[in-house]
Amino acid sequence: MSVSTIVPWVIGNWKMNPATADVQKWAQQFNQCLQLAPIAQQQCNIAVAPTYLSLISLKENFTGYNRTVHVVAQDVSRFPGTGAYTGDISAQLLQDAHVSYVLVGHSERRELLGDDTQILCAKIKHALDAGLTVVYCVGESLAQRENGEAEAVVLQQVKDIVPVVSADQWEDRIIIAYEPIWAIGTGKTASADDAQAMHAKIREGLKQITAASDRVAILYGGSVKPENAADFAACPDINGALVGGASLSATSFYKIAASFAGKK
Ligand code: PGA
Repeated sequence: MSVSTIVPWVIGNWKMNPATADVQKWAQQFNQCLQLAPIAQQQCNIAVAPTYLSLISLKENFTGYNRTVHVVAQDVSRFPGTGAYTGDISAQLLQDAHVSYVLVGHSERRELLGDDTQILCAKIKHALDAGLTVVYCVGESLAQRENGEAEAVVLQQVKDIVPVVSADQWEDRIIIAYEPIWAIGTGKTASADDAQAMHAKIREGLKQITAASDRVAILYGGSVKPENAADFAACPDINGALVGGASLSATSFYKIAASFAGKK
């Protein structure tokens, strides 16, 4: 168990939602929540991952806020720089657009969109080389959990990226998000105790990899809602949340951020 000094992260993953017209409304509502009851920067880092289409406009919407709200790309090309890669957006192009965070390894990309370990490592390497911070998602399937393999699977997913992350990058440039696949978008959550147990194992695993294991943020994701956020926030090794469905509502997302802010 770690006594954490990590400022929590609450990150909204909008996936292939919503329509661009709704984005501005969301930003206005979220800003209103923050004005009514501010969440200080040092209490909680807040970030949102919209589609590429809204990334820049959302970033601009956030500039009038009384605090920083980061934008996060949902993906990045496995190829660096610029070139003939139709449809792709490289880490350099994101950095050039002042987008400094990217999700890599989400289970939907692993399962539905062909992102294997080699591709994920290429994405992470180029993202880190370009100066981005990576939110790296790991998590076991229901079958793996039922077979008692959850811990081994998750720890292996963490080890998979060791070749492309240098010792000094673990603390500031990698955020880990533990998302059991069976809890994503299903309404089923891991219990706070089960999630804490896995987070503690991940942190233990990180000890073999980096001297900064106590300073790596490990977020929980999988049906996090305003109703259960405080339970996760109370766990010593859970340093925030990656929120899908509930982040589409500005007020729900705000409440989740407020729960984690209350932890500090
Ligand atoms: P969910 O999604 O909160 O809708 O379960 C989490 C995620 O996929 O990041």
